[in-house]
Amino acid sequence: MRSYRFSRLLAAFPWLLVALLVADFNLNRAGPRTPTSSPTERILQQQQRHLQLQKLRPHAPSPLARPAAAAVAGAVPARAAAAWRLRPLSVPQPPPPPPAPPPLPIHAAAAAVLVSAEAQGTPAAVIYVVTPTYARPAQKAELTRLANTFRQVPWLHWVLVEDAPSQSPMVRALLARSGVPGATHLCAVTPRRYRRAGLPRASEQRNEALRWLRGEAARGPLPAVVYFADDDNTYSLELFHEMRDTRKVSVWPVGLVGGRRYERPVVRAGRVVAWYTGWRPDRPFATDMAGFAVNLQVLLENPFVQFRRRGGRPGMQESDFLRQITTMQELEPKARNCTKVLVWHTRTEKVNLANEPSGQGDSVEVEV
Ligand code: UGA
Ligand code: MN
Repeated sequence: MRSYRFSRLLAAFPWLLVALLVADFNLNRAGPRTPTSSPTERILQQQQRHLQLQKLRPHAPSPLARPAAAAVAGAVPARAAAAWRLRPLSVPQPPPPPPAPPPLPIHAAAAAVLVSAEAQGTPAAVIYVVTPTYARPAQKAELTRLANTFRQVPWLHWVLVEDAPSQSPMVRALLARSGVPGATHLCAVTPRRYRRAGLPRASEQRNEALRWLRGEAARGPLPAVVYFADDDNTYSLELFHEMRDTRKVSVWPVGLVGGRRYERPVVRAGRVVAWYTGWRPDRPFATDMAGFAVNLQVLLENPFVQFRRRGGRPGMQESDFLRQITTMQELEPKARNCTKVLVWHTRTEKVNLANEPSGQGDSVEVEV
């Protein structure tokens, strides 16, 4: 009987051994690090567990949240723990790629053109922008808007001409902080007799700029292009790109002017042949001041050409000025054969100051 039992035990022994081994193997897999795992394995396991815990920490603990520890305590069957272990561990994802850069701004494109022109040995032109300006409630706002445009244009020199006997501190400070790298501050007063509604504006200021251009600017870098930019218009950056290669006089459309949505030179076979305008079509050059640019060389070759108050009618200054320096046949059409509006003759509404205090005002001095 004993030998029978003993022989049965002997027969079952290999199976018992196998069962023990399997149980041990499962426990090792589900349990914490065991001394049998290699150092590399151990480090990897530690890192993985750390990452998993990091990920789970903020959440409420779930029965499967920490299976390894639970399995050791016997609370979770080893199979559940093994199933959890088969889930892909959360590996930290690389940060999302940065958003695509915005398209190149036009001024950068213009700068690239300048650089390539330089590389080819063609010196790119400086643009002298002449702006007459006078004191009024919206002056600082207008000049701020202009500075925000002009500072983005490469190789632009701003010639600001105040209609005042001397420089005003506000304009001086604004120009100094405008961010426009090249700037000149001039002054010229409009005589009292010309300060009336219905008379041409800013002739004295533009003529003062012409004097400076024929002196100072002529000694500066050449070629150079001159543009008369009033302080209340709206200028696209593309406009400066267009005018930069003006050889003599270039022209383009102007928006919101002459009682129409736009005025423009009419171009046929690359030449200006007529003017699309709703106001005084008999003008030899039916364009606004914002609609043309002149190469400085032309002004140097015509040293006495000025803006004249002749006729005393507004809107004729441009035509009279251009008649002195060029002909229709010579005009260089820009802005896609004069079919693109890149400048607008915007006019600022007269500011309502009806509620300004007449006597004692605010307790502090505020510049507007
Ligand atoms: C239109 C044209 O766009 C101007 O180029 C032209 O000088 C003017 O007509 C004209 O009649 O002579 P508009 O909008 O009517 O322009 O004129 P403003 O914008 O009021 O004045 C043109 C420029 O002259 C501005 O830059 C303004 O600041 C300046 N200005 C005006 C003075 O410097 N002093 C003044 O007394 C008036
Ligand atoms: Mn204006």
